Amino acid sequence: MKIDSFVRLLAVGVCVLPMIAQPLAADSLREHLSLDAGWKFHLGDDWPNALRLDKAGASGGPAADRSSTDALWRTVNLPHDWAIELPFDQGADMSHGYKALGPGFLTNSIGWYRRTFELPKTDEGKRIWLTFDGVFRDATVWVNGWLVRRHESGYYPFREDITDALRFGDKNVIAVRVDATKSEGWFYEGAGIYRHVWLDKTAPVAIAPDGIFVYSQFKDNVPAKEAQIHVEATVLNMLTNAAAAAVNFEIVSPEGKTLAHFKGSAKVAVGSQGTVKAESKLSSPVLWSPETPELYKLITTVSVGGGIVDRKETAFGIRTVAFDKDKGFLLNGKHYWIYGTCNHQDHAGVGAAIPDALQEFRVKKLKEFGCNAIRTSHNPPTPELLEACDRLGMLVMDESRLLGSDSENLHKWDVQIRRDRNHPSVAIWSVANEEFSVQDSPQGARAALAMQNYVKHLDPTRPVTYAAPEGDTFAGINGVIEVRGWNYHPGPDMDSYHSKHPNQPNVGTEQGSTVTTRGIYENDARRGYVSAYGNKTSWSNLAEEWWSWFAERPWLSGGFVWTGFDYRGEPTPYSWPCINSHFGILDTCGFPKDIFYYYQSWWTTNVVLHLMPHWNWPGKEGQEIRVNALSNCKAVELFLNGDSLGRQTMKPNSNLTWQVKYAPGTLAAKGFDAQGNVIAETKVETTGEATQLQLIPDRKLINANGEDVAVFSVAALDAQGRLVPVAGNKVNFSIEGAGRIIGVGNGDPSCHEPDVFFAALPAHTLAVNNWRWQLADVRGDGRALPEYTLDFDDSLWKTIKPKTDGDSGELVIRQPNTTAIFRAHFKLTEEEVSQANVQIRFSGCDDEGWYFVNNQLVGESHDWQAQPAFNVKKMVHAGDNVVAVGVRNNAGEGGLNPNVNIDIVGTAKPAAWSRSLFNGLAQIIVQSTRDAGEFNLTASADGLKPATAVVRTQPGDLRPSVP
Ligand code: GAL
Repeated sequence: MKIDSFVRLLAVGVCVLPMIAQPLAADSLREHLSLDAGWKFHLGDDWPNALRLDKAGASGGPAADRSSTDALWRTVNLPHDWAIELPFDQGADMSHGYKALGPGFLTNSIGWYRRTFELPKTDEGKRIWLTFDGVFRDATVWVNGWLVRRHESGYYPFREDITDALRFGDKNVIAVRVDATKSEGWFYEGAGIYRHVWLDKTAPVAIAPDGIFVYSQFKDNVPAKEAQIHVEATVLNMLTNAAAAAVNFEIVSPEGKTLAHFKGSAKVAVGSQGTVKAESKLSSPVLWSPETPELYKLITTVSVGGGIVDRKETAFGIRTVAFDKDKGFLLNGKHYWIYGTCNHQDHAGVGAAIPDALQEFRVKKLKEFGCNAIRTSHNPPTPELLEACDRLGMLVMDESRLLGSDSENLHKWDVQIRRDRNHPSVAIWSVANEEFSVQDSPQGARAALAMQNYVKHLDPTRPVTYAAPEGDTFAGINGVIEVRGWNYHPGPDMDSYHSKHPNQPNVGTEQGSTVTTRGIYENDARRGYVSAYGNKTSWSNLAEEWWSWFAERPWLSGGFVWTGFDYRGEPTPYSWPCINSHFGILDTCGFPKDIFYYYQSWWTTNVVLHLMPHWNWPGKEGQEIRVNALSNCKAVELFLNGDSLGRQTMKPNSNLTWQVKYAPGTLAAKGFDAQGNVIAETKVETTGEATQLQLIPDRKLINANGEDVAVFSVAALDAQGRLVPVAGNKVNFSIEGAGRIIGVGNGDPSCHEPDVFFAALPAHTLAVNNWRWQLADVRGDGRALPEYTLDFDDSLWKTIKPKTDGDSGELVIRQPNTTAIFRAHFKLTEEEVSQANVQIRFSGCDDEGWYFVNNQLVGESHDWQAQPAFNVKKMVHAGDNVVAVGVRNNAGEGGLNPNVNIDIVGTAKPAAWSRSLFNGLAQIIVQSTRDAGEFNLTASADGLKPATAVVRTQPGDLRPSVP
């Protein structure tokens, strides 16, 4: 199966290639440019007829080439998720977190993006590729008004060679319509261009997209002294003649030493691609693992006629993975427990639009409790998550969105595998999750087998699984899949299945689904909180139930907890007002819940001793309170206000419980080793009232690249500096310097406060009324006419009634190929003309218009659906002004829609960010600007001493990007 648009292009005929012999731009090495900054965004589909399929380049509205519709749109940087900006609504979909999106919320469910950029003339002769890493969902993409791509799924990248649609030495515009009305999952999925966008410029002979594959093999799949390194480079030839490509490979060690040089060559036919395969041996390789995430680098260079035309660096790791029927998962030939978590791409404050630095933050949080593997449930991940996993050491189960062996699903599978197969973190592919309708059928089995076989053809190194919700069932997918995946069912079903199918390896694809709320110790259906002691649903288990079952059976390989982080949607076991899940070991911000310490006890070698609950229970004096010690000490002794409440011995993979009569003060614990030595101590104390705030960033120095983030925790402390575990104060945030707040959260699964706040723009609007018009000879070149001047006497011209129904206005020009001029006066005050912006906004001009204010051309439109807006601050003055539009009607009837408005927009007042604490804590995410220096974040709350924290921003790590 071919993967890219280029190949589709070939399918319609190579005649799309220019027939003139192209020069080989030998000096045009690949530029891989970020196209994230400076998009314009508009929520709403005000142009339902924008898409035209009858003629090339004929689409309208914001899709139109020279449309100026976006003048008033908001500027956003990618990744961007507009769902996070929407309010909660009880009528919206519960599983998607009650965001006012989807069916029933049509005006919130379609958004438009536009990005304008210049291409230098010197780029002529290069191929220009546009890549979207992920758009949720159903994207329609135009380049200069030309429809170049439609792409449905929100989880798969797509790219297009847009060279032919571009203007070199001129301005270009990309327009994207995104329709998030339909969902693809049953969890929060975001909306918009929520992953990165790239513009790649390459020579006509270049490495194909995802055209590098590097993998290592050892004899018998067990690392030994020498690794066999296999490389494949696919080269594209978009010249008009065949090209002989020489491909050089260089392997660089984790310390930066060149270890090997080898090469291959291919003769690539016109408009085709060729793959060069080569091999090399590496002795004494350093092995990749979560504990030693050592990365090698492959540098691939392609030369034609002696000149280098492309160069690409690919990080890779040397390691082996296998699932054994008896020993379970083997990493580098040795048994290795999978301490995994399933996760959706969703974080407090930002939703699905997770900056790369936040991906890294999340991986580090998971590692804190011993998690060494992520399942990308239930879709292909964002590439930067895989990069973080490679770098920080985290295995990945890379899952597809849907089961299917039809060409569309296999194409997606192909894209996913080719994109992700160089990542050493990726240890196993998952063909799908819980395909209830087909999983037990021969059809399901055939589709899964086709996907599994497909993997073998693209990746000889990794096994394949399916996240199966059945118990002891072999029919259907389970009967054909290489590694039996277990969603739930720890217990006799597993043993029975294993005894009947002893040759099939196993893995716990999804386990746990224990529901807990951070800092809450009683179920509270009204507020939507579940006790942190742990609750389960009909299909789920407490942490100690599933893990102790697995821990005794290495053949199960370990498993993936549902979930590492809480996420929006699936508020099991509740519904409204609860809006997010409770399955996480961490809440939506990454704050640990008590269950974190259970996993940390049994999944790390740290000495762990944690007590729950907190010890602030006024009114419960004398009543029994359940106290749990989460620990891996051999024994734990509990003390209340100095008195021992007894020592208990810990069973492996479990925890300890005491019933304690509450008295305020100090609950303390000592942990002992097997010899009875104290190896850990901890305490929880009854705190006083909150008196002060504390603000702590995860990093004190970040990059001034406009992308990096610092993640702050804000906490309420008492006079003695202790966290007040029940504090819910509303905290206000303000920032100064080289940073901007991008999101706030608090982990409260029922909090309806906004995650994002917008700068308030003081604005008011004036209607421009009393239009007059007359047929006149308008030249379509924007040249001035006496009729455009302020003093022109139009008193004898005809008048038009204002239209209010939003259509294209009163169509007063009855004949095609006829022109007319429309005029109206408007008055502005001194104060109005002194504001930051004065925008004039039109509702439509059928078919083309040249717009003048006080005799100065402000812009033009060439699409009857365009609703152009222009900033006319420089052209207006206090007192009387005139707006005049020369209109050309090309076909049918035409005219100017007389609904014209002037927006007077003041300077933006910084957004007033705030968030209530949830059980003492909240989170603020701050992104750097491109200015090196520092920023100060201040948190303040009524009656509490405020806190300020400073983060420095250093120059560097600036991604090459499209200006
Ligand atoms: C599983 C499903 C997950 C999630 C989970 C909640 O069956 O695969 O996506 O819904 O249940 O417990």
